Amino acid sequence: MEILNKQVLVDNANVRIIRLDILSPAIAAKAKAGQFVALMADVKGERIPLTIVDSNAQKGMISIVFQEVGLTTRLLGQLKPPDKLYALSGPLGHATEVLDYGKVILVGGGLGIAEIYPVAKALKARGNNITAVLGARSKGQLILENELKGVCDQIYFLTDDGSYGEKGFTTDKLLGLLKEGSYDLVYTVGPIAMMRKVSEITGNFAVRTIASLNALMVDATGMCGCCRVTVAGEVKFSCVDGPEFDAQKVDWDQLQTRNRMYQDSEEHICKLEKQA
Ligand code: FAD
Ligand code: FES
Ligand code: MG
Repeated sequence: MEILNKQVLVDNANVRIIRLDILSPAIAAKAKAGQFVALMADVKGERIPLTIVDSNAQKGMISIVFQEVGLTTRLLGQLKPPDKLYALSGPLGHATEVLDYGKVILVGGGLGIAEIYPVAKALKARGNNITAVLGARSKGQLILENELKGVCDQIYFLTDDGSYGEKGFTTDKLLGLLKEGSYDLVYTVGPIAMMRKVSEITGNFAVRTIASLNALMVDATGMCGCCRVTVAGEVKFSCVDGPEFDAQKVDWDQLQTRNRMYQDSEEHICKLEKQA
C-alpha cells in the first residue's frame, strides 16, 4: 500500500487530477479492465471507490487516477511517496467482458477518460477496432492522451470551449459516427448525464451499449445496499453486480437522484475543512 510514484496530470482552473502508482502485489496479480479498488486515505477517513487504471503484475503495482472533488480525494492528493494508504481492497467488481465484438466506440467524459483506458487496452488486445470519443472542458483538462493514442485506431477529442480537437459534446460526435457507419458495441463512462444521453442515442441505432456506473458506494462488497441501481426492473448492487451494466436498461432517473443524496453534507464537510 506504499505510494511509489505521484504525478499531477492536471493543475489548472481549480482542477487537480493526480495519478498514483501504488505497491499492491496481490491486487496487481489479479486486476482486470473494468475493476476498481476501495481505499481509505487516512485512519479516520471514508472508503471510496476508484478504478484500477493500470496494473503491472511484475512490479506488483497498480495505478489510480483521480480528481480532487471533495474531502477524501483531497486527502489522497496530499499523499506522496513513500506514504502509505491506510487501507486498500480489490480488485472489486466484475471485469469488462472482453470479446471479439468488431467495431467498438468508447465514449469517455472528464475522469471517464482515465477509466476508458484499461478497457481500450483490453479490447484492442482482443483484436477489436477501437474508436475513442473523449470529452473535457478544455485542453488543459484532457488526460492520458498519449496512452490512448497508443491503443485506439481512431480518436476524437471534444472540448466545451473548443481549445482542443472539436468544440462540442461527445454525444454529438457519437451521433455523427453512428449515422455514418455501423458499430458493434458502445462503451461509456463519465458523468451520468452524458452516459444517459449516450444510451438514448445508441438505443435509436440498436447498438449494444455498456455503461460503467458511478453509483455511491460505502462498503463496496455487497453488504450495505448503498450502491443499488435498477437495471431492467431488477435491483442490482453496482459494487458486486457491476459496475458495468446494459446502459439501455438502467433506471437513470433513480441513479441521478441517489447520487445527489449526500450532496448537502459533502459540501458542508468541505466548507468546514476549508475553514479549519
Ligand atoms: P465528496 O465531496 O464526498 O463527493 C463528491 C462527489 O463524488 C459526490 O457528489 C459523488 O458524486 C461522488 N462520491 C462521493 N462519495 C462517493 C462514494 N463513496 N462512492 C462513489 N461516489 C462517491 N473518481 C475518480 O476521480 N477516478 C476514478 O477512477 C473513479 N472511479 C470510480 C469507480 C467507481 C466504480 C465509482 C463508483 C466511482 C469512481 N470514482 C472515480 C468517483 C470517486 O469515488 C469519487 O469522486 C470520490 O468518492 C469522491 O470522494 P470525496 O470525498 O473526495 O468527494
Ligand atoms: Fe454497499 Fe455496494 S457499496 S452494497
Ligand atoms: Mg466524501
